[in-house]
Amino acid sequence: MRPKVYITRKIPEPGPGLIGKYCDIVLHKREQPPRREELIKNIKGKDALLCLLTDRIDREVIEAGADLKVISTLSAGFEHIDVAAATKKGIYIGHTPGVLTEATADLAFALILAASRNIVQADTFVRNKRWKVPWSPSLFLGQSVRGSTIGIIGLGRIGRAVAQRAKGFGMKILYADARRASSVEEKRLHLEYRPLDGLLQESDFVTIHAPLTEETFHMINAKRLKLMKPTAILINTSRGQTIDEKALVQALRENRIAGAALDVFEKEPVAKDNPLLRLHNVTLLPHIGSATREARGRMSDLSAQNLLNVLMGKPPAHWLNPDVANIRPLKAVKMI
Ligand code: DGY
Repeated sequence: MRPKVYITRKIPEPGPGLIGKYCDIVLHKREQPPRREELIKNIKGKDALLCLLTDRIDREVIEAGADLKVISTLSAGFEHIDVAAATKKGIYIGHTPGVLTEATADLAFALILAASRNIVQADTFVRNKRWKVPWSPSLFLGQSVRGSTIGIIGLGRIGRAVAQRAKGFGMKILYADARRASSVEEKRLHLEYRPLDGLLQESDFVTIHAPLTEETFHMINAKRLKLMKPTAILINTSRGQTIDEKALVQALRENRIAGAALDVFEKEPVAKDNPLLRLHNVTLLPHIGSATREARGRMSDLSAQNLLNVLMGKPPAHWLNPDVANIRPLKAVKMI
C-alpha cells in the first residue's frame, strides 16, 4: 500500500515530484494556510505530513494524526511543532537547516546596507518625482558599514555566514551565544565574544540569528533596547518574537536607536494597524530570508528526502528528535 501524505501548501519542485513517485499526496491547494479544522481533518489517516512554519502542529493536531510516522517541515525553524508530543507518539521530525544559510545571510546583509544607506527611502524619493536638485552634498546621508561594529546574536550556521560577510566588509565582529566558538574559529572569522548586554552597548549593527525558544522570546526588550547606541540599527531575519515589538516601536518613535530592518514580525502578515508601518526609520520585508529559487528548491528537496527516508526505514538527513528511534525504531515505520 502506498503511504498517504498531506502537504499543507503548494511548494516548489522537486519535493512534490519526488514524494509523488512513492506516495499518494493530498495537497492543500489554496494560497492561505489550511485552517486548524482543515489541518485536523486532513491529517487523519495520513502516514506523513509535509508542513510549513505557518502550520501550528501542537498536541491536538498530533493526536489527530494517529497514523503519522513522520512530520517534515519545509523550514529550518521548528517552534511551530510540539517536538516532545510528537516524539512521545513515535513520530520522526525532519527540518531543513543548512540549505538556506547563504540566502538568509545575504538578506541580513541586504538589510544592513538598505538601512544604513536609506536605499528604500531614496528609491521612493526618486519614484515620487521628488528629486529636483542634480547632486546634493547632503542628500540621504547614511552611515558607513566598513569599519563599523556588528554584533551577531546567535552564532549558528547563519550567524557564521553573516560573520564571513562582515569580515569582507572590514567590520569589527562581536558575537553573543550560549556557546563560545573555538579560539581557532574566533581567529579565522575575526570574532570577539561578548555577553549579550555588552554586545548591545558596543555595536553599530545588531543582527539576530537565534532560534525562537523560551530563552530567546522577547530577548530584545525595553531594557536591552536602552543599552543600544542611539546611532545603532537593529536587524532581524530570525523570528519576530525574539523582539518585544511594542518596546521596539517605542524606541524607534523616540529615536533611541537609529533604525531597524525587519524581515520577521511578532504576527505575520503584519496587521494593517501595526505601528511599524507608520515609522520612517524602519525597513520592512515579508519574511523572505530564504526566498531564492536555489534555496527554496533545496528546501523542497531536503524536506521530501527527510520524509521519504523515514518511510523507507532510514534516518532523515536532518532530524530534530533522534531519541524517537528508542520509542519506535525505523524498521517499524518502514512502508516503502
Ligand atoms: C525557516 O526556514 O525557518 C525560515 O524562517 C523560512 O525559510
